[in-house]
Parts: sequence; structure tokens; C-alpha cells
Amino acid sequence: MIKIAPSILSADFARLGQEVEDIRAAGADYVHFDVMDGAFVPNISMGIPVLASLRKATDMFLDAHLMVDRPVRYVEQFCNAGADLVNVHVEADTPENISAALEKVRALGVKTGVTLKPGTPTEALLPWLDQVDLVLVMTVEPGFGGQRFMADMLPKIRSLRGWIEERGLKCELEVDGGVDAETAPLCIEAGANVLVAGSAVFRKADRAAAIRAIRGF
Ligand code: DX5
Ligand code: ZN
Repeated sequence: MIKIAPSILSADFARLGQEVEDIRAAGADYVHFDVMDGAFVPNISMGIPVLASLRKATDMFLDAHLMVDRPVRYVEQFCNAGADLVNVHVEADTPENISAALEKVRALGVKTGVTLKPGTPTEALLPWLDQVDLVLVMTVEPGFGGQRFMADMLPKIRSLRGWIEERGLKCELEVDGGVDAETAPLCIEAGANVLVAGSAVFRKADRAAAIRAIRGF
């Protein structure tokens, strides 16, 4: 089943509770929560207090994408604030510290994810593939919404789908960046099952129609 995870980076932050209610009514599956620290990526978005407020406002699945340097320092706070899944970048720290971060998340009963920047080879995810709940392939350079989809990332999605099937893993395969009604079918064909979409949902007046167009039915 294809899941749609609208990225609230493109939402109206002054009306965040209503925006999330709106995408739930429109058929969204997850809420994608982009955290940017101004160090790992050249932009700053939102963090722990916003996630805690959102947790009180909705019971939707909160998929926290940490674009944060050395996330091991903060993952427990994101879990305690109410994230349902905490996703860290493999480039953000040493492999030992990435493992430690994932361990902390698991210990708190929260789902784990690992992700890659476009320039990082897919093999970099291999050490964690059999222990995480989700892997994310970035199809833009992380840091900003509204960028153009990088079609040259499709082979990464394909490789990961192959590895997941070969190993009989349950982990979800998410794509993030430039996903819209035109690029979503390419991601699905390559094997993705969770599609993040920021501008393609929040910049549209009819969010239900936008989500249907991305899902493909
Ligand atoms: C980029 C973020 C994405 C972004 C997607 O750093 O991780 O989640 O919000 O936005 P669109 O769908 O507009 O590319
Ligand atoms: Zn994201």
C-alpha cells in the first residue's frame, strides 16, 4: 500500500493544528516533520516544542526527519515529545553514534529510520537496514521545500527495494523531495511505498485531490 506523508514544512505554521487536521481529512497517512538545525543543512525549521504541541493536537503518525548534526544528542527528546518515528541521517555522525542514536529511539518504543543525502551511496545504509523500520531516499538536497526532483536517485530506490525483498525485511521505503503527481509514479515503480510531499500538497487548495493525484488513485 502506498502511504502519503505530507511535509508540514510547506504548511502555514500559524495554523499548524488545522493544517494537520486538513491533511488527515484529505486522506494523508503520516505527518512528515522536517527538523533543520542550521548546521547539518543551511536552514532552520522547527524542533521539539513544536512537535510536542502537535502531539497534543493530533493522533496522526508523526514521522520526524532530523536534518540535525549529531542527532544522538536530541533523539530522546524527540521521542518524549511524541514522535512515532525518528529518522536520522547517516552523514550526521560516526557510525557508532548513529547506532547509539537508533538504540536510544528503540529503547523508548519509537520506530527508527535512517536516511541518505543525494551524494551518499546507498551502501551507506547497509549497516542498519535489517534493524530499522524505515529507510528514506532524499531526492533533493535537504534543507528546502519546493525543489526539483532528482530522477538520478531512482536507482537508489530500486537497489534498496531489491535488498529489502532479498532479505525479507519489513522496513518501509520512503522518498522525500520534489514528489508530485508527475514524479510519484516513478518512485512507486522503483519500489517506494511512502511518499513525502510538501509543496505538492500544501500549496494546493484541494488537498484531497492533491493527495489522490500523488497516490495515483
Ligand atoms: C527537504 C525536506 C522535505 C521537503 C519536501 O529538506 O526534507 O521533506 O519539505 O518538500 P517538497 O515536497 O516541496 O520537495
Ligand atoms: Zn523531509
